[in-house]
Amino acid sequence: MADINLQAIHDEMVLVAYEAGRTILSANPADIGTGTKLNSVDIVTEVDQAVEKMVSSRLKAAYPDFSFMGEETYKPGTKIGPEPTFIVDPIDGTTNFVHSFPNACISLGLALHRKPVIGIIYNPYQDLLFTAIKSHGAYMTRIKGSAPQKLPLAASPRPLAGLSNALVAVEWGSSRDGPNYDLKTDVFKKLAATRETGGAMVHSLRSLGSAALNIAAVAAGQMDAYWEGGCWAWDVCAGWCILEEAGGIMVSGNPGEWNPAVDERVYLAVRGAPAGQRELVEEFWGVIGDRKMDYSV
Ligand code: IPD
Repeated sequence: MADINLQAIHDEMVLVAYEAGRTILSANPADIGTGTKLNSVDIVTEVDQAVEKMVSSRLKAAYPDFSFMGEETYKPGTKIGPEPTFIVDPIDGTTNFVHSFPNACISLGLALHRKPVIGIIYNPYQDLLFTAIKSHGAYMTRIKGSAPQKLPLAASPRPLAGLSNALVAVEWGSSRDGPNYDLKTDVFKKLAATRETGGAMVHSLRSLGSAALNIAAVAAGQMDAYWEGGCWAWDVCAGWCILEEAGGIMVSGNPGEWNPAVDERVYLAVRGAPAGQRELVEEFWGVIGDRKMDYSV
């Protein structure tokens, strides 16, 4: 186990991602069975389940000693251990998928000692692939077979100049009441509001509908930050590796924690920049104040 070949695993994961992409594209969301999990906006489809089955059987066959955690087969309470663990969301952006809104992806991560070391994100609608291996950089491939572009896309990324110059991704998530929801919507409002009224007046807020694609956009330098509470390790593991390899950082979405766990469930991703990363995190945490999102139950 000590000398695992990350490049070979990455190559296999890319093949699996392309196969998943073909299955996603071949499905007509109007004809597929959908169900719900926690509530009416926490959606699962037959395609999510079929893709996860294909991914888990391919990866388990190739790497029988590795653990596997997938969104659709997750058993509540399962912990991620130090052993190599595939952490997989077969379709991240299921709501987009069921609405035929072409922004969904497969998110395939590998964690080692609970840290993301490989990230593969593939949006088949745009034939857009993001990949990274720990210490080997992050890449984006626009069309299969074309030359990968190194991330971030800008050769000299601009310094971060505070929230008032930032484009920030946020998500509504599936919990729509209670203290976490109140805190989130409060923060959305404060991020957008004018400085005169106590807000941060960010350039704007975006919700791509997929945690993985939000993080990939931050890694690429197309957005400055992404904040969410309530998502899971499979939503962030792959993107996290890509983000870090592109010079970005992942900290907790709750103030004060600079080194969150992969299954922390509250995250703030900030793009790579020659200056201003820590300041942006601190300013963001200041908007949240002394409150914390809590997804422990
Ligand atoms: C969801 C998406 C969404 C985010 C949720 C995730 P799913 O994943 O990433 O953008 O807000 O927290 O659970 O259900 O589409 O796999």
